Amino acid sequence: MKKVIIPEFGISNLKIVEEDPPKPQKYEVLVKIYSVSLNYRDYLTIEGKYNPNYKLPLVPCSDGAGEIVEIGESVQEWKVGDRVIGVFAPDWVDGKAERKEIRNTLGGPNDGTLTQYRIFHKNAIVSLPKNLSYSEAATLPCAGLTAWSSLFVEGNLKPGDTVLVQGTGGVSLAAISLAKSIGATVVATTGNEEKEERLKFLGVDHVINYNRTPNWGKVARSLGSGDGIDHILEVGGAGTLEESIKAIKPFGQISLIGILSGSAGKINLLPVLMQNVRLQGILVGSKNALKDLVTCIEKCEIHPVIDKEFPMESSIEAIEYLKSGSHFGKICIRNF
Ligand SMILES: NC(=O)c1ccc[n+]([C@@H]2O[C@H](COP(=O)([O-])OP(=O)(O)OC[C@H]3O[C@@H](n4cnc5c(N)ncnc54)[C@H](OP(=O)(O)O)[C@@H]3O)[C@@H](O)[C@H]2O)c1
Repeated sequence: MKKVIIPEFGISNLKIVEEDPPKPQKYEVLVKIYSVSLNYRDYLTIEGKYNPNYKLPLVPCSDGAGEIVEIGESVQEWKVGDRVIGVFAPDWVDGKAERKEIRNTLGGPNDGTLTQYRIFHKNAIVSLPKNLSYSEAATLPCAGLTAWSSLFVEGNLKPGDTVLVQGTGGVSLAAISLAKSIGATVVATTGNEEKEERLKFLGVDHVINYNRTPNWGKVARSLGSGDGIDHILEVGGAGTLEESIKAIKPFGQISLIGILSGSAGKINLLPVLMQNVRLQGILVGSKNALKDLVTCIEKCEIHPVIDKEFPMESSIEAIEYLKSGSHFGKICIRNF
């Protein structure tokens, strides 16, 4: 089988190696991974910017979907042929995680999914939604679940609420579909004119171009109910948080998810406390939250947006493409 490894940090160092597929032990299953979806975290990990202390060589990427091809002798829950996705943080089953339960994540520090076959513990996978292809399903364990946790696990999103997403990456597009599915009003920002039209086509109610309107916070505040946005998915980080604080409604929630514009900066916190704003850090989500997301995806017939698929041999191009930010939705690597 082929697998991609990071022998040394740096995109150009990625390399494919070949070895025999592993054998599942008593409580394990062997999954033939058909598709892997990329997250911004994978790029940071490969560059050594996410955690420079990760032990190398490491198989990158956290998200994969495939089919069980062999099961260990004590596995009752699964059978050969079942279609599954891996769980991002397999030790975090439900509720609020303890520190130790969010330590072992796929694609660093544990080996990830950019491999043709991978062993999973029987409890570290969930069934993929019946209505999705392998690539569509591969977008759920990190990007999809992060959007779900922000809006529903921590955010208690209700029909009629207003949601703001930033940019057109995987987390933001997942949040658009989920928010629209329960009848929320959605505002999206983008820095790209062509993507403005595509956002409207997805059903976004208001689009703001953050290059034409750098102070978009006040504009966003006037949309929806007129009193501000109920939920903001903050993927920009330090460079966008100030605008989000201007846009948020009193008692609204800003989910702190990403750091595309940096992780450190000066922020005026006064409006946060004066308006009872909830700043909620988000780390992906639990296994049970992933199961709930799968149920919702099936029930609401949601299809994640795939921008482009690359073969495994073009993994370096795929990561470079992710880095360029020109994508709209998810980038996947097909393993077969
Ligand atoms: N906390 C968690 O659990 C978690 C989980 C998943 C991801 N994340 C983080 O969330 C962020 C987004 O991840 P992703 O995988 O969705 O990324 P992605 O697919 O790479 O999306 C990036 C998109 O964001 C937009 N963008 C880039 N720079 C921006 C900026 N300064 N301000 C606003 N928008 C900007 C661009 O869209 P336009 O061209 O449309 O502007 C770009 O295409 C990353 O920082 C990632 O590490 C965190």
